[in-house]
Amino acid sequence: MSIEVSTSALAIPVADCGGIGTIGGSSIPVEELQTDIRKAKKATKGIIAVNIMFAMKNFYELVMASIDAGVDMIVTGAGFSRDIFKIGKDTNTPIVSIVSSPAFAKLAEKLGAAAIVVEAKEAGGHLGTDRSLRDLFPEIRKVVDKVPLIAAGGITNGYEMAEMMDKYGADAVQIATRFVLTKECSVAENFKKVLLNATKDDVTLIRSPVGLPGRAIKTPFVKQLLDDESVLACKKCPYKCLKKCDHVYCISERLRAARDGNIEEGLFFSGENVYKFNDILSVKEVFDQFVSEAESVYKEGS
Ligand SMILES: Cc1cc2nc3c(=O)[nH]c(=O)nc-3n(C[C@H](O)[C@H](O)[C@H](O)COP(=O)(O)O)c2cc1C
Repeated sequence: MSIEVSTSALAIPVADCGGIGTIGGSSIPVEELQTDIRKAKKATKGIIAVNIMFAMKNFYELVMASIDAGVDMIVTGAGFSRDIFKIGKDTNTPIVSIVSSPAFAKLAEKLGAAAIVVEAKEAGGHLGTDRSLRDLFPEIRKVVDKVPLIAAGGITNGYEMAEMMDKYGADAVQIATRFVLTKECSVAENFKKVLLNATKDDVTLIRSPVGLPGRAIKTPFVKQLLDDESVLACKKCPYKCLKKCDHVYCISERLRAARDGNIEEGLFFSGENVYKFNDILSVKEVFDQFVSEAESVYKEGS
């Protein structure tokens, strides 16, 4: 649930470099999301997607608004929508499903997904499994053969990208944490600082009001949550963003605080391997690094 972590500011250069630039659409006001999609579509000839969590109360409104604004592709996870595939067919919009089990991968393929993302436990944000990418991916690779299969969770460099594509048969990779640590990512500098300074022990699992575990950095808010969550309970529900919310805290408020760089109050989602990064690069530098590392593997192997 990326509240303004991945906006057009990041999606445009990713699309320019040949990736799929993905705007996080969950819990963003509808007009704001449409404006950002239009901005991205105008600025790049590349592919712009929007990621919308099925757990959002206004999931279908966000989907239709994104399509109206001209988005190229809808990516969806955190729950499973069957109806989305009909919308995809009716509007000629590719639907990409994020799954964490062979059963949902098979279902997504059968219902018409244009591609499937296998998201494993190394990922940041909400998690659908406690299984590692290298454990889970092969099982799903066996049951998906008609559409591209994308590996996500914990990929930090081009060697790992090449490994996932060459050895595990992934058609592509999905990467988040590395791109938070880019010059173009529009979060506050403090957000990048929190991720950049994180050690292996600072990355933890938390309970989320969405009803799934989440992976985040152990900042003061998270320590309080792990210590005694009762004091954090959300009584006002200012955003009314989720279909089902247990109000253990207000996730929209905490993610917005993180975006604004509030280290005390914010919830900073991050992948498990964040501690391996020690620099902030431009998006183009990330692409160049991944490609040259991957190419070196193929050269060595040839
Ligand atoms: C800050 C942050 C926000 C995220 N927000 C979302 C989101 O809104 N929807 C989603 O499906 N996945 C979200 N993710 C998960 C990523 O899309 C991705 O699959 C995963 O983090 C990949 O692993 P990596 O971060 O190790 O590259 C988020 C991840 C991070 C780090």
